[in-house]
Amino acid sequence: MQGFIAYVLILSFISPYICPTLEYVTENNTYNVMQYGAIGDGKSDDTQAFSSAWSSACNAEGMSTLVIPSKKSFLVTKVNFSGPCDAKILFQFEGKTVAPGKEEWKAESHWITVGYLNGITIDGNGLGEIDGNGSTWWDCSNCVRPVVFHFHSCNDLTVSNLMISNSPRAHVSVNQCNGATFSNISIDSPATSPNTDGFDISSSTNISIQDSNIKAGDDCIAINGGSFFVNVTRVTCGPGHGISVGSLGKFNSTESVSDIYVRNCTFMGSTNGARIKTILGGSGYAKNIIYEQIILENVKNPIIINQDYHYNLEEVSSVSVNSVTYRGFNGTFVGNVAINLNCSSSGCFNILLDKNNIVAAKEGGKTFVFCRNAHGTVRDTIPNVYCLSE
Ligand SMILES: *[C@@H]1O[C@H](CO)[C@@H](O)[C@H](O)[C@H]1NC(C)=O
Ligand SMILES: *[C@@H]1O[C@H](CO)[C@@H](O)[C@H](O)[C@H]1NC(C)=O
Ligand SMILES: *[C@@H]1O[C@H](CO)[C@@H](O)[C@H](O)[C@H]1NC(C)=O
Ligand SMILES: *[C@@H]1O[C@H](CO)[C@@H](O)[C@H](O)[C@H]1NC(C)=O
Ligand SMILES: *[C@@H]1O[C@H](CO)[C@@H](O)[C@H](O)[C@H]1NC(C)=O
Ligand SMILES: *[C@@H]1O[C@H](CO)[C@@H](O)[C@H](O)[C@H]1NC(C)=O
Ligand SMILES: *[C@@H]1O[C@H](CO)[C@@H](O)[C@H](O)[C@H]1NC(C)=O
Ligand SMILES: *[C@@H]1O[C@H](CO)[C@@H](O)[C@H](O)[C@H]1NC(C)=O
Ligand SMILES: *[C@@H]1O[C@H](CO)[C@@H](O)[C@H](O)[C@H]1NC(C)=O
Ligand SMILES: *[C@@H]1O[C@H](CO)[C@@H](O)[C@H](O)[C@H]1NC(C)=O
Repeated sequence: MQGFIAYVLILSFISPYICPTLEYVTENNTYNVMQYGAIGDGKSDDTQAFSSAWSSACNAEGMSTLVIPSKKSFLVTKVNFSGPCDAKILFQFEGKTVAPGKEEWKAESHWITVGYLNGITIDGNGLGEIDGNGSTWWDCSNCVRPVVFHFHSCNDLTVSNLMISNSPRAHVSVNQCNGATFSNISIDSPATSPNTDGFDISSSTNISIQDSNIKAGDDCIAINGGSFFVNVTRVTCGPGHGISVGSLGKFNSTESVSDIYVRNCTFMGSTNGARIKTILGGSGYAKNIIYEQIILENVKNPIIINQDYHYNLEEVSSVSVNSVTYRGFNGTFVGNVAINLNCSSSGCFNILLDKNNIVAAKEGGKTFVFCRNAHGTVRDTIPNVYCLSE
């Protein structure tokens, strides 16, 4: 017994001297990449510092805070913030993180990966910036271009107040996640940058994207196969190819999406607004989709369903489209066809158009509607969608 007390006394006396760094971090539980050797001058490679800081934060007990400090620029070639972690992590992503040019790129398909985590919060506090340096990739059409920010197998995820720009491909991809909220995310890439989706969601449930601004060269948001219960609220899209469901059914696959709720969104100068695209030969469904309270400014195709995306065969199967509501679209368009419901021979059903007012941006401009195999109800809508069948 006495020996034990003596041992405890000695240990408590010497331990602050044997590991002062450990003492500091465990007291504070804050892991700053600068403490792990990051330079933050935008030129030195800070990849190792990011990885080491992550390991410490992840392996801590209880709550831990990982800090990428503001007013600095970190060059990182590839980083994997993956679990499982012992700690519940708050990630203060306040500095600027930049990717190298194409030649020095180390990542294969994803640059920053966040995976296998429960309950992580990533907050840029309105300062954090992620720059994918994509311009060095965009003109390489046969390259496998990487995604900037990839979330895989994350539950109860919160990402907020961040700017993400210039991705070689999609800016944010969300795969096999259940429960994620993205808010105040600003995405910015030129209209001409190829395949630069804002968000690309697949095989995920209970996802919310809100209060965000997306300028992209492809879909602002693409909701792909295996995604259910996705809300998009108060998002501005444009330039971009719209907030899209699909494409579904590529390579004759079975893919389904349901319970999608897009509301209070604005499309400004985008190619599409509300788009559903499915590919002939595929199977599965797109159903229970609501777009409502949508402001349009100079949108080319405000409402479009295209079931013949890519292929043009009549006899083969198609992904079914059922129960789609377009309510409260208001504003201007610049294309020819304001409402285009172009369904395959198996048809689209239970389409509801309610309280919409879509007019040509150009005074006296022509407004066409088009329906093929489209069934549903129209109420109080301009232009008149006379072509929708019961
Ligand atoms: C923890 O350390 C960080 C520096 O990495 C510092 O900014 C912060 O104020 C510290 N927090 C506490 C509670 O001591
Ligand atoms: C990231 O780490 C996880 C877990 O160790 C691993 O499964 C995954 O393949 C890694 N991803 C990348 C892109 O390196
Ligand atoms: C992008 O990559 C190029 C080529 O390596 C480099 O010169 C430039 O500094 C990078 N841009 C940014 C914003 O880091
Ligand atoms: C939202 O993000 C912007 C920058 O994209 C920033 O100016 C603003 O402060 C952020 N809001 C909050 C609450 O952090
Ligand atoms: C949806 O995700 C949120 C966190 O983003 C979580 O609080 C909620 O419990 C989840 N709901 C379901 C039904 O999974
Ligand atoms: C989507 O919005 C509906 C209606 O407000 C709400 O009941 C549901 O919980 C929301 N889901 C997510 C994932 O935010
Ligand atoms: C899809 O199936 C059709 C026959 O139904 C076949 O002709 C076609 O090659 C298939 N396409 C792909 C991409 O597998
Ligand atoms: C959507 O906008 C309407 C009208 O501006 C407003 O009354 C409503 O509260 C908003 N809803 C959401 C979820 O933002
Ligand atoms: C309808 O879809 C078919 C097949 O993709 C296409 O050829 C046609 O141009 C479309 N019509 C309209 C008005 O978009
Ligand atoms: C449609 O937009 C116009 C112009 O912004 C506005 O004056 C009008 O009140 C809006 N109508 C509805 C029903 O929201």
